[in-house]
Amino acid sequence: MTEITQLLKNNREWAESITKENPDFFHKLSQQQTPEYLWIGCSDSRVPANDIVGLLPGELFVHRNVANVVIHTDLNCQAVLQYAVDVLKVKHIIVTGHYGCGGVKAALGDEQLGLIDNWLRAIRDIYYRNESRFRVISDEEKRTDLMCELNVIEQVANICHTNIVQNAWRRGQELSVHGWIYAVKDGIIKDLGVKVNKLEQVAEAYRMGVSDATKSDY
Ligand code: CO
Repeated sequence: MTEITQLLKNNREWAESITKENPDFFHKLSQQQTPEYLWIGCSDSRVPANDIVGLLPGELFVHRNVANVVIHTDLNCQAVLQYAVDVLKVKHIIVTGHYGCGGVKAALGDEQLGLIDNWLRAIRDIYYRNESRFRVISDEEKRTDLMCELNVIEQVANICHTNIVQNAWRRGQELSVHGWIYAVKDGIIKDLGVKVNKLEQVAEAYRMGVSDATKSDY
């Protein structure tokens, strides 16, 4: 177990090593942030956003929660999304799930875990809608992995169903939403190939009309 003071020591060493390489790094960073990417990932300690894509502080805007879910009534996630799209004007939103996700596993089981059950409920809904795909898979690990992938795909759709993203597209803002999955066992990310970058790719039932936020551009 790492002593807490060790973390502060690590921090000094980390800051020193970056400054040594680029003396102006922190000063420049303190003036502004201009990340091109919004990362929505799991809170899992084995999936550290910046590290696994090799990005420095200032390059990735990050939101993490248990099982990387995007729920329309979650003010926290929606506020991150709105700020990233409208203010920071990120060009890419990346939902990154991971195989063997504990949250996803829990959603597939029937054990009560407390408040988290409510949070994971949305994943249970995805399972129910795709039940036929699971019926033919008996291996527990494979079932979880399929669920992890379906969960990412669902969250990509949820992001595209927000007025935040749709208004950005209507304004002509360049914005792509991606679905990735990370394997803890080898550190490799797989692109699930579900990229969405325009309104026409969104199911019609989820497309919203023009609002005051977009009218000025017409
Ligand atoms: Co997880």
